[in-house]
Amino acid sequence: MNKGLCILLGLMMGLGALMANEKVIIAHRGASAYLPEHTLEAYALAYGMGADIIEPDVVLTKEGILICSHDLYLEATTDVAEKFPERKRDNGHYYAIDFTLQEIKQLRAYGRTPVSERATLPRFEVPTLEEMIQLIQRMNKQTGRDAGIVPEPKSPAFHAKEGKPIEEPLLRLLEKYGYKGRDAKAIIQCFEMDSLRKMREELRTDLPLVFLTSTLISESVLNEFKQFGDGIGAYRYLIEDAQGRSVNENGFVKACRHHGLKVYVWTLKNEVDAARRFLYDYGVDGIFIDNPDAGVQAKRKE
Ligand code: G3P
Ligand code: CA
Repeated sequence: MNKGLCILLGLMMGLGALMANEKVIIAHRGASAYLPEHTLEAYALAYGMGADIIEPDVVLTKEGILICSHDLYLEATTDVAEKFPERKRDNGHYYAIDFTLQEIKQLRAYGRTPVSERATLPRFEVPTLEEMIQLIQRMNKQTGRDAGIVPEPKSPAFHAKEGKPIEEPLLRLLEKYGYKGRDAKAIIQCFEMDSLRKMREELRTDLPLVFLTSTLISESVLNEFKQFGDGIGAYRYLIEDAQGRSVNENGFVKACRHHGLKVYVWTLKNEVDAARRFLYDYGVDGIFIDNPDAGVQAKRKE
C-alpha cells in the first residue's frame, strides 16, 4: 500500500488526543490483521483507524540499531532465506543481530502473510524504530492528535548475551524524540522484569513500565513489581476463558488494582463484544488488538 495513502487515511479518520487515564486501544504490531505486521504501512493504517497507541516490538541489528520486529530472527517474516541463504546459524535461524541495517533494508517484509499470498503483496520493508517514531510524530503534528507508542524490547537477556544490551539504545532513542517523563506518550513493556528494573533503577527512566505475563503472578511478585513498575500486560485468558467466562471472578485484575497497577490485555482480534467485556466488564485500562477499528468501535460503545 502506498505510504501517502496510509497517511491520508490517518488524516481523515483521526479521533482526537489520547487522554490521561482514558482507556486505550493499542494497535498490536500495527493494524496487523490488515497489513504485514511491523511495517510503516501497518502503523499508519492503525493510526488512521483511531488507535490511541501503536505497538512496535524491537530488536537490534549488527551495528546496534533498533528495528521493528517481533522475532529475534528474520526468516518467518521476510525473504532473508532467499536473499542471504548462507547466513543462518547452526540452529537454522537468521538472527537480525547478525545483519546490518543496510542488509535488512534489502529484504521484503511479509509479516505473517501466508507464503501462497506473498506474490500478491506490494513491497514492504522492515522499518527502524526511529522511522516508526518519525511517522507517528509526523501524523500527530499534521492531525493535532497525540497518539502514543508502546515499544517492547524483545528478549533483553538474548541481546545481553550477544554483547549488545538493548535497554540503553532504546531509552536513548526515546529521549531523542522527546519521550521522557511520566506524561510522555510512551510506555515500555517487556516480558523480563529484570530488564524493566534495570531501565528504572540503573538507567533512570521515568517512563511508565509494563510487565508482560502469560501466567498468573503471585501477590508477592506484584508487590515486588509495583516498587518500580506501573502496569501489567496480561494474556487475555488470565482474565476470561475461551468460553467468555470471567476467570476467578476477575481475580487477577482485582489483584493488580489492589497493588495500584494498571492492566492491559493481549491480544484481541476482530472481537468487538470481547473488547467491550475487557474494557467495561473487567475494567482493564487498555487492549492490544490486531484490528484497531474493532477496538475503537468497542471503546465508543456503538
Ligand atoms: O506486548 C503485548 C503482546 O504483544 C505480547 O505478545 O508475542 O505479540 O509480543 P507478542
Ligand atoms: Ca508485543
